[in-house]
Amino acid sequence: MIDERALIAAAAEARTRSYSPYSRFAVGAALLTASGKIYTGCNIENAAYGPSNCAERTAFFTAVSQGERAFTAIAIVGGREDWDSFCAPCGVCRQVMAEFCQDSFRILLGRSDGAVREFTLKELLPMRFGPENLQE
Ligand code: THU
Repeated sequence: MIDERALIAAAAEARTRSYSPYSRFAVGAALLTASGKIYTGCNIENAAYGPSNCAERTAFFTAVSQGERAFTAIAIVGGREDWDSFCAPCGVCRQVMAEFCQDSFRILLGRSDGAVREFTLKELLPMRFGPENLQE
């Protein structure tokens, strides 16, 4: 099993690479694969606003583009100056999680004072619409 502190530390490290000149809200995510590998991501904003990408989706798309399909947990940290409040994933990122992850997928929210809150994907996205709905 993972060391949740290590996963949160990886998210905090990724946060330092956030490109967020418009919101000044920097987010980092660290995604754990079933085989124990970690893929990280940060939010990447755009002058046209719409093309901006959240840290969680950066991590998922990086991992999937490298051939990964099985994930067990993600750690997320975010905030302006610091990451002293919990940063919950947006609805779009929850839907991306639902594409690749089971209901038991763990979502760890970290705070710089060491506090951690943990949710399952089912808790944050109940009664989801996913690939299973399109099976014939
Ligand atoms: N953001 C994330 O990257 N992940 C979240 O969980 C919440 C929001 C980003 C999007 C945007 O770049 C900035 O934070 C402010 O919304």
